[in-house]
Amino acid sequence: MKTLLEMITAEMQDAFRKAGYEEELAKVTLSNRPDLCEYQCNGAMAGAKKYKKAPFMIAEDVAGYLKDSRCFETVDVVKPGFINLKLSPVFAAEYLNEMAGADRLGVEEVKNPKTIIIDYGGPNVAKPLHVGHLRSAIIGESVKRIARFKGNKVIGDIHLGDWGYQMGLIITELRKRSPELVYFDDSYEGEYPEEAPFTIGELEEIYPTASAYAKEHEDYREEALHATYLLQNGHRGYRAIWNHIMHVSVEDLKKNYRKLNVEFDLWKGEADAQKYIPDMVQMLKDKGYARYDEGALVVDVQEETDNKEVPPCMILKSDGAALYDTTDLATLVQREEDYHPDEVIYVVDKRQELHFIQVFRCAKKTGIVPRDTELKFLGFGTMNGKDGKPFKTREGGVMRLENLIREIDEEMYRKIMDNRTVEEEEAKRTAETVGLAAIKYGDLSNQASKDYIFDVDRFTSFEGNTGPYILYTIVRIKSILNKYRENGGAPEGLHVLPAEDQYEKALMLQTLRFNDVMETVYEETAPHKICAYIYELANEFNKFYHETKILAEEDETKKSGYIALLSLTKRVLETCIDLLGFEAPERM
Ligand code: ARG
Repeated sequence: MKTLLEMITAEMQDAFRKAGYEEELAKVTLSNRPDLCEYQCNGAMAGAKKYKKAPFMIAEDVAGYLKDSRCFETVDVVKPGFINLKLSPVFAAEYLNEMAGADRLGVEEVKNPKTIIIDYGGPNVAKPLHVGHLRSAIIGESVKRIARFKGNKVIGDIHLGDWGYQMGLIITELRKRSPELVYFDDSYEGEYPEEAPFTIGELEEIYPTASAYAKEHEDYREEALHATYLLQNGHRGYRAIWNHIMHVSVEDLKKNYRKLNVEFDLWKGEADAQKYIPDMVQMLKDKGYARYDEGALVVDVQEETDNKEVPPCMILKSDGAALYDTTDLATLVQREEDYHPDEVIYVVDKRQELHFIQVFRCAKKTGIVPRDTELKFLGFGTMNGKDGKPFKTREGGVMRLENLIREIDEEMYRKIMDNRTVEEEEAKRTAETVGLAAIKYGDLSNQASKDYIFDVDRFTSFEGNTGPYILYTIVRIKSILNKYRENGGAPEGLHVLPAEDQYEKALMLQTLRFNDVMETVYEETAPHKICAYIYELANEFNKFYHETKILAEEDETKKSGYIALLSLTKRVLETCIDLLGFEAPERM
């Protein structure tokens, strides 16, 4: 169905045309003076020059044709030439009822669905997940859900960092500790054990130990680099260890992401791209795109219009080793072969922007992806602590994701137990649900590209612009609907009735904005605009709730209208939080 703005804009265009003015002027927006009106059109001002006429007169002419419009309750012309609009309560109620009956609450699918790959998460196997990976997971998941909601075919790919130096480090440390393991016996030709020679707990200890040791000991570092090289060049025993590392870590990662309510369609990684490299390198050489620069193979990507230097894309180091650029290019080869995507969106720390500029240019220039494939970099800012520096543990170390989540959950648990409305067991589960909302909303309510301060106290508060506040509002509506049911009512199939007071009207106006908001959110890839919207919606609901006797309303018809409005508001809120990647509990 049409969005509300589309509908009233069409009405306005009609009036401009009938009054003899061009309809391009008839742009309707949300009012920036809510004390005066709900929507406004400033087209008369824009038309003054063209028609050599006072804007007020143009506005009057136009307003004359809006007198009988079914959309508006009032159309006021205000000096110098604003057209101020208030929506007809009957029209608003009709619109809401149509929303309630439509698929996806009336949000239309895109006309030409695209195949979109979203590259997000990007954890490095065998290294602990840290808060830096949190943002990618949270934002990527939401972007994926939004694009899918609009009817696109969306594939989320975790793009594991599973092919780097960390693997060499682990192999080297393992060899140091247990040189007798069969993986290190070069004469061994049999099958390798199925069981990994370490647990996830050990693995998590091995990597940091090895990494720290390598920084102090040059020969150890050399050994780890060599082990990485051997692994990447097919060493049987190392490849077997690699398989173990992958198996153990991926299982653990899956557990972690499940907790975050983040789900990937593909669990591919840098290692999967390796087999595409030789042919790709050959192509780059054959077609003359690549050149040697001090032994390294590079592709120039500088463009004339650049006012900064954009260094060449590095394809192979002088020792023939592939690099980060190479892997991302080869991954595009793979994605093109497997899915032929219309769009690939990378949700990665914005400090990696230059890398992606290089990769995108190289991929386009060399035909690795077709010209019209959209390659988008969605760079996000840093999550900082209250001191304004990257988020750390109290001891100053890198904060592990699990610990951060635990901290939030414990805080939520304390708060929920303070309220004493639920049993301990339920409180634990509820704390996890609300805790996740606190983290995700805290993150997503900021524009992705900006840095933000992770403030546990603020994010877990039940008041203000927070996840828990939104959930609290949903739970409040659920409880009203439940009571209505307990008293023998059926909240389904009721109709929203024309608003009778300002609070009800205000709530309706917010609820019916949903479709317009979703258009913008999708077009701008801007989950933070969902947050801004549901915060306003929750506020309007709570005002209405405080001003209105809902269940105590004696006029049953009127009450049923309230219930219909509440049901719809709840559905809008629930749809929105689902797009943000979290859900509401039954009680809290
Ligand atoms: N693993 C990388 C990191 O931790 C992020 C990967 C981002 N995605 C990509 N296609 N390069 O920094």
